[in-house]
Amino acid sequence: MCIIRAREEKAMVVGRTLLAGALVVVWIVGHARLEVAAQDGGTLVLPSENVAAKGQAMGYVGPQACLRCHSDRYDDYRASGHPKKLRPASEARAWGIPLPEGWDWKDISYVIGGVRWKARFIDRQGYVITSTGPRKDRPGANQYNIETGRWVSYEAGKKKPYDCGPCHMTAYSKEGNQEGLPGMVGTWVFPGITCEECHGAGAAHAAQPDKANIKIDPSPAACGKCHIRGAPDKIPAADGFIQHHEQYNEYLAGPHAGKLGCATCHDPHKRAKVSLKKQCSDCHASTARDYAGSTMQRSGVRCVDCHMPPAGKSAESFGKYVGDVKTHIVKISIGLTDRMFSEDGQFATGKLTVDFACLRCHGSRDTGWALANARAIHTRGK
Ligand code: HEC
Ligand code: HEC
Ligand code: HEC
Ligand code: HEC
Ligand code: HEC
Ligand code: HEC
Ligand code: HEC
Ligand code: HEC
Repeated sequence: MCIIRAREEKAMVVGRTLLAGALVVVWIVGHARLEVAAQDGGTLVLPSENVAAKGQAMGYVGPQACLRCHSDRYDDYRASGHPKKLRPASEARAWGIPLPEGWDWKDISYVIGGVRWKARFIDRQGYVITSTGPRKDRPGANQYNIETGRWVSYEAGKKKPYDCGPCHMTAYSKEGNQEGLPGMVGTWVFPGITCEECHGAGAAHAAQPDKANIKIDPSPAACGKCHIRGAPDKIPAADGFIQHHEQYNEYLAGPHAGKLGCATCHDPHKRAKVSLKKQCSDCHASTARDYAGSTMQRSGVRCVDCHMPPAGKSAESFGKYVGDVKTHIVKISIGLTDRMFSEDGQFATGKLTVDFACLRCHGSRDTGWALANARAIHTRGK
């Protein structure tokens, strides 16, 4: 049995003093971060998925059946977030995730997430838990944030059905209530996003493997089914940050739309951090050559630090311009009138501005300074 526990990642501390002005650059990128990670070489052993009669009738076999012939894919996948999106309490308790105050594992049916950003909990009736405390009647403190270990409030005190199925499950159907629990909206074949959510029902393929009887859809739209919020041509925002699960909305607003897909950069079976098949410099070789040897390159500032800053927020923010989800808008806009958000703050404009790209590190500077220095940035100090 494998026990998961929070592990402190090596903090990359590069706090330095700028030579001329003796101003301190606050380096927030690599602040110490807690992340749930597995003990045994970074992988998590999931117990076998029981294929219920319904799944069987629909031609589903479960990831264990794929493991037999695709063990490499399976090992990557089981260490990633997709399959763990919703796990029964009996499994999740082995991960070392704490419970909300007043709640015991016997009162929990499922845990939602808890792999990368945050965990929420579902009671025995299928409702998302929104009240905590000794008598379970105190609204809030119901969401556990992994990076900080804080308990924060989500839909505090409300009666909150679990209606998140389309993006969190395998073979979701909006009819009925899973396991007859009144709070569970809809039914599914497996909890979490398993192989067959992306590749389609696999019984025929597992019995007689052939390319023709299993689906592969590498289109960004296939990932965009879940990595989206609202309409694809808008980027919803709240409290000064892009909201989470908007990678597809952002990508469509950025320069890579139509040029490369999610799966050009990511191996979809792996955790984000270790999933990159291509680096920025593989395709932008001349820019990378320009950048090599500049002051910031020598200080360890990477392409993604400026071009994919954490302008989105899932669980926590660490300053006005520091959220916890990296943006896929990628292109930095340096027009004087460019703004990150609409006047009313409801949407991002699709422009990534220098406040997010620069000021989270150069905290003592302002937008005017950043704009003045943004041009020819790749060759600064050379
Ligand atoms: C991930 C953190 C980080 C980000 C993001 C970042 N910088 Fe820097 N910057 C640094 C560090 C570290 C140094 C080097 C400080 C030192 O060596 O004293 C630096 C140095 C500089 C310098 C002085 C370099 C020189 O040659 O004199 C300028 C100007 C600068 N940054 C501008 C920017 C602008 C504009 C942006 C946004 C487009 C930006 N930085 C984004 C960390 C960052
Ligand atoms: C008995 C062994 C076996 C099992 C079980 C099996 N596969 Fe395969 N799979 C193969 C082989 C062999 C190929 C290559 C077929 C070919 O080249 O025609 C393949 C190919 C694939 C491909 C690539 C298709 C392509 O177009 O390149 C995918 C995706 C795939 N399998 C997914 C799955 C999934 C998902 C499961 C579980 C539901 C699964 N496989 C179960 C043996 C298996
Ligand atoms: C449109 C699809 C979609 C819907 C609907 C959705 N989610 Fe998610 N959710 C995602 C995606 C994609 C991610 C991961 C990417 C991100 O957050 O940017 C995520 C992440 C999460 C996480 C963090 C997981 C982790 O390991 O840190 C939690 C918790 C979560 N969602 C809970 C919910 C709950 C509760 C609901 C329903 C009330 C819900 N989600 C509805 C797509 C969705
Ligand atoms: C989130 C969606 C998703 C999940 C979950 C997923 N896959 Fe895939 N898989 C893909 C995509 C997309 C590709 C095509 C990748 C590409 O074009 O580079 C792929 C490719 C493959 C291939 C072809 C090998 C290759 O890289 O060309 C195999 C085999 C495969 N998957 C098996 C599996 C198995 C087995 C599982 C579960 C253990 C699984 N996949 C889970 C999306 C997924
Ligand atoms: C059925 C919905 C769904 C589909 C389809 C889907 N995702 Fe996800 N994805 C999620 C959810 C939900 C999470 C959050 C999982 C967690 O951490 O709890 C996630 C997490 C991720 C992560 C972070 C994983 C990690 O462990 O670090 C990456 C990267 C990712 N998805 C890429 C993709 C790509 C690429 C595709 C298309 C090939 C895709 N996803 C298709 C729902 C989906
Ligand atoms: C697989 C190849 C590929 C990879 C990997 C890639 N890009 Fe691109 N990128 C392109 C293409 C193609 C375009 C659109 C054509 C163009 O404008 O150069 C583009 C456009 C851009 C633009 C807009 C250019 C402009 O002049 O408006 C920026 C900025 C950018 N990419 C940054 C990045 C960053 C940062 C990374 C790494 C996270 C990255 N790219 C990874 C291929 C790639
Ligand atoms: C210190 C922050 C920073 C870093 C690090 C950085 N860039 Fe940029 N990049 C910018 C800014 C700001 C612009 C916009 C400059 C402009 O429009 O004149 C830009 C523009 C670009 C463009 C479009 C314009 C062009 O020059 O073609 C591409 C492509 C690009 N960067 C790729 C990269 C790649 C690849 C890396 C890593 C090798 C990288 N950048 C590292 C800040 C950065
Ligand atoms: C140009 C390459 C590129 C493309 C295209 C791309 N991504 Fe990413 N993505 C990245 C990089 C780089 C990271 C940061 C990885 C890391 O943390 O080191 C990332 C991170 C993520 C994360 C985790 C976010 C976080 O803050 O940890 C998710 C989820 C994700 N991508 C999903 C997608 C989806 C879905 C698409 C398509 C709509 C997509 N990506 C397209 C390069 C890309």
